[in-house]
Amino acid sequence: MNAVILLGPPGAGKGTVASVLVEHGCEHVSTGQLLRNEIEKGTPLGIEAKGLIDRGLFVSDETVVGMVRDRLESAEPNATILFDGFPRTLAQAEKLDEMLRSLNGQVKQVLLLDCPDEVIVERLSGRRTCKNCGTVYHLAYNPPLHEDQCNSDGCALIQRGDDSAETIRKRLAVYVGATEPLIHYYENQGLIVRINAAKSIEDVRRAAAAKFG
Ligand code: AP5
Repeated sequence: MNAVILLGPPGAGKGTVASVLVEHGCEHVSTGQLLRNEIEKGTPLGIEAKGLIDRGLFVSDETVVGMVRDRLESAEPNATILFDGFPRTLAQAEKLDEMLRSLNGQVKQVLLLDCPDEVIVERLSGRRTCKNCGTVYHLAYNPPLHEDQCNSDGCALIQRGDDSAETIRKRLAVYVGATEPLIHYYENQGLIVRINAAKSIEDVRRAAAAKFG
């Protein structure tokens, strides 16, 4: 089992790019989504995670690594896993290497979505997500056909609790302190492929698809 990692600041478009790369036959694993599923179910893990996520803080390495380990158990043995939002710390990156080694695999590529802060704030402020199916929209760049209604199932669109202006600033600061060091970690292994994520959704998706694999 091998892995491709989508790395980049909150709101750079990791989920948006992943929705296209899955068409290349990989399994998409978003730790943010796995955590939101736990929150929705009201599990003890979800309750603890919500308190941290709403403040823009990371969930513990131990919890996230445990969740990823469980998820990998249900993956196809020969699958390529597309990680979105994982790893986010050096400790998580080292654990991922360990888990993949035990499955005779490795990280094959790290797609780094470069995006300036002012673009990120605008993207996260305008993001709306379907409460039911999770489809992501943007009020200006990818609007739904009907206001506040999902195109796919007609369900209500919501704003994520961690997309408030104050929490976005905190998430960006945490990214710089805890996640940016991963760029160096993967650069040393020759795995980083940079993508200019400040372009339009279609341009970024096209660039990612061309460089993937
Ligand atoms: P997570 O859900 O992973 O959040 P994130 O990394 O902050 O990323 P986002 O989902 O906010 O943004 P994205 O890059 O996917 O952008 P999107 O495609 O939606 O994690 C949430 C929280 O969970 C974390 O803060 C942390 O607390 C916790 N967590 C998760 N993983 C963890 C881990 N490994 N360890 C510890 N804690 C963890 O796009 C954003 C918006 O912009 C959308 O509206 C979209 O339509 C629009 N858009 C996208 N691309 C473009 C474009 N090119 N042009 C214009 N608009 C665009």
